Amino acid sequence: MSHKIAPSILAADFGNLKRDCEIINQSEADWYHLDIMDGVFVPNISYGMPVIKKINELTNKILDVHLMIIDPDRYVKTFKECGADILTVHIETCNHLHRTIQNIKNNQMKAGVAINPHTPINSIYEIAKELDLVLIMSVNPGFGGQSFIENTYRKIEELVLIRKETNSNFLIEIDGGVNLNNAKKLIQNGADVLVAGSFIFNSKDPKKTIKDLKSIIHD
Ligand code: DX5
Ligand code: ZN
Repeated sequence: MSHKIAPSILAADFGNLKRDCEIINQSEADWYHLDIMDGVFVPNISYGMPVIKKINELTNKILDVHLMIIDPDRYVKTFKECGADILTVHIETCNHLHRTIQNIKNNQMKAGVAINPHTPINSIYEIAKELDLVLIMSVNPGFGGQSFIENTYRKIEELVLIRKETNSNFLIEIDGGVNLNNAKKLIQNGADVLVAGSFIFNSKDPKKTIKDLKSIIHD
């Protein structure tokens, strides 16, 4: 399976959201990556339900929603109603992660777990088989445009081993500081999905940048 590219809308121009969505729609991007921040779990507030609903109206692509909020169970059903296809919660925000994952699946969405840079990869071991996606944060969550943290490469390798050992089949997604300098190594180490925000939207030709990220060959 070839890797997927998920542009992060956080870096789009919100005054021209429709135009930016059209660019993504016409591009080789596989998913939309939508970052929801509550100003409590992370020191920033992004955007919320009306924006997701609008993007859902503007595209047929998969909506990959990344929740950086405390107590995410409160909103699982609401995000489904807004159009989320994949709902990812942070392991650091869930006291009863197994229950939260079941809640997401019972609402007919794919379930993901995100892991902060300081959180050991093996903390997902017991829940691995239940997951559709594991998101490794390669920056500290809260902001776009930060520098990539290098220990991500090793974390991917560890996660590939856990997936094998537990006979699981979740996708491995990398989020934060992704660009053409690190994308190839990420894919070679085992990443299935690359999120990129500022690298795509700050480039001269976002559609071409997506194509470049998508055409990386695994050798
Ligand atoms: C950070 C978000 C990321 C962010 C990535 O908290 O989870 O999805 O938008 O942005 P870049 O690619 O600019 O690091
Ligand atoms: Zn994200």
